[in-house]
Amino acid sequence: MSGLIRNKKAIVTGGSKGIGFAVAKALLAEGADVVLCGRKQKGLDRALAELKGVSGGKASGFVADVSRSQDAAELFNFADKELGGLDYLINNAGIGVFRAAGELSVEEWDRVIATNLSGAFYCSREAIERFRVRKSGWIVNISSLAGRNPFAGGSAYNASKFGLNGFSEAMMLDHRNDNIRVSYVMPGSVDTGFSGHEPEKKSEWKIAPEDIGEIVLDILKMPTRTLISRIEVRPSRPQKD
Ligand SMILES: NC(=O)c1ccc[n+]([C@@H]2O[C@H](COP(=O)([O-])OP(=O)(O)OC[C@H]3O[C@@H](n4cnc5c(N)ncnc54)[C@H](OP(=O)(O)O)[C@@H]3O)[C@@H](O)[C@H]2O)c1
Repeated sequence: MSGLIRNKKAIVTGGSKGIGFAVAKALLAEGADVVLCGRKQKGLDRALAELKGVSGGKASGFVADVSRSQDAAELFNFADKELGGLDYLINNAGIGVFRAAGELSVEEWDRVIATNLSGAFYCSREAIERFRVRKSGWIVNISSLAGRNPFAGGSAYNASKFGLNGFSEAMMLDHRNDNIRVSYVMPGSVDTGFSGHEPEKKSEWKIAPEDIGEIVLDILKMPTRTLISRIEVRPSRPQKD
């Protein structure tokens, strides 16, 4: 356990499974207190039951859909009471709809952009309001290599993650002199149930969600003078599905 993260207060959006769950678990094991959110109570209950076994900080959950600004505000109000402060926001909640641009419905487009891009904005503005009062804070956005590499069928997802990268960098420049740091992580294929994938049992080649948890910890452990603003992560030996 590192003294740098012990007793810190964190919100992890989309923390009920996959990468968000692994990041929350890693933060807890380092002694941080964490509020997780997801859209479904059942998923949060399952995650919190599993996290009870982690010795370190305290975990709690709140049902919130980050694509709605009102839900984001309620999530942060809950965290104010639960945590009594905020040091880290991990914007991780995300969805994928993979279809050619001509076949995407307006509803699908809106849902992907609202979750992956607007959701990160809604939560970041809530966090920045609090970080300004405390004169410090850190936002880590979980983007994707899809934020740099377009692929067929990825129009909505690519647009959301290209947008998230631009948003992250501009926000980093806006606020770094207020001692508010912004980083973003761009993983390739991670072994989760993302977009209907069956998480493979110990995939031989995909990135494990726990590896992203470790990377987020590494970012947060940097001394104040140094900011890791962007990290690309890829499977060492990618394979075709
Ligand atoms: N898996 C990959 O290969 C991969 C690669 C690069 C980047 N990423 C990115 O990593 C992030 C996490 O992906 P994952 O693979 O861990 O996916 P996942 O296993 O499907 O988990 C997604 C999490 O986000 C929550 N969520 C989804 N929409 C939400 C919303 N509107 N509001 C609040 N919570 C929401 C889900 O809970 P509920 O369903 O209960 O809401 C769940 O906890 C995403 O941003 C994704 O784009 C994934």
